[in-house]
Amino acid sequence: MDNIESLLEELTNADGPSGFEGPVRSIMQREFSPLCSHMETDGMGSLMARLGEDDGPPRIMMAAHMDEVGLMVKFVTAEGYVRFQPLGGWLDQALINQRWVILTRNGPVQGVSGIKTPHVMTTEARNQVFKRDQMFIDVGADSLEDAEERLGIRPGDPITPDSRFTILSGGSLYMAKAWDDRIGLAVMVEVMRRLKNLPPPNTLYAVSTTQEEVGLRGAHTSSYRVEPDIGINLEAGVAGDYPGISQEESQERVGKGPAIFLHDTSMMPNLKLRDLFIDVAKEKEIPIQFDVLNGYGEDGAEIQRSRGGAPTINIAVPTRYLHSHYGVISRQDFDHTLELIVAVIQRLDAATVHDLKSFD
Ligand code: CO
Repeated sequence: MDNIESLLEELTNADGPSGFEGPVRSIMQREFSPLCSHMETDGMGSLMARLGEDDGPPRIMMAAHMDEVGLMVKFVTAEGYVRFQPLGGWLDQALINQRWVILTRNGPVQGVSGIKTPHVMTTEARNQVFKRDQMFIDVGADSLEDAEERLGIRPGDPITPDSRFTILSGGSLYMAKAWDDRIGLAVMVEVMRRLKNLPPPNTLYAVSTTQEEVGLRGAHTSSYRVEPDIGINLEAGVAGDYPGISQEESQERVGKGPAIFLHDTSMMPNLKLRDLFIDVAKEKEIPIQFDVLNGYGEDGAEIQRSRGGAPTINIAVPTRYLHSHYGVISRQDFDHTLELIVAVIQRLDAATVHDLKSFD
């Protein structure tokens, strides 16, 4: 396992549902501390790390979110079963019969979202989809008091999918939870590592945001603080290369390079910035793809319209099976994304940024 695999493993195994990003933030602080000259958190917990001294504009803001889709304890039934509130966009089918960890003040508590045995079901009931409000987590408690007092479970406690990083068939595909958006965080760390001894012609910030999955909340406050001239958001993309998903729905394929988002329901990129990415990719012979989605939302939308507005783009690493216990990405796509971001940031000098920001 090389250093990047270890970082990806640590980041994806870390617990971090929306509003509970602390464990992920600690990893980012540790990684950035030898690379960055300044780090601070804003009032919502987003971590802003600056490479080198503040040389004024142009200010470039890379961003990726620390939170993952998870659940929250709503209440515990008299019998000791945990009812939950989903945090972020889950499909009901993906919630059932899975392992979970409840993060209590006394430590982690494991459980399973149980499903009724088919032995007692009519044929009709076997064909039905289970709805989230019928679901519960079994933590092995025998009453409400037992869950609260012995296990320390409280309403509002975050719940994370229990799933471990795995290298598929010994190859270059990695399976894990939370690629959305730990993959973006890992790209930011490696970009800072590469640029530490190769200072870019701008002031570069890497911002690890909070609460993206519940409404791009951390990106709102952190982009106000950073006041960027250019925004580069890094995300888990939407691979459309497995059975049951069509090119109409998503055009990305795993292994074919980073994707430039041209449309999602939260933003469209600045087209001059798109063209800069295309030019740099051609020159460096880095494969890229495009994606046009009729859904999705990402932090770039908040960066784009912070203060007076900033040209922004969303660059994504194609990912299969987002917002579930297991997603799949390719190492090649990670490496190509890293190369592309490093090369583009090296180009963002004052004159280039001035041109990107002019609409005459
Ligand atoms: Co995301």
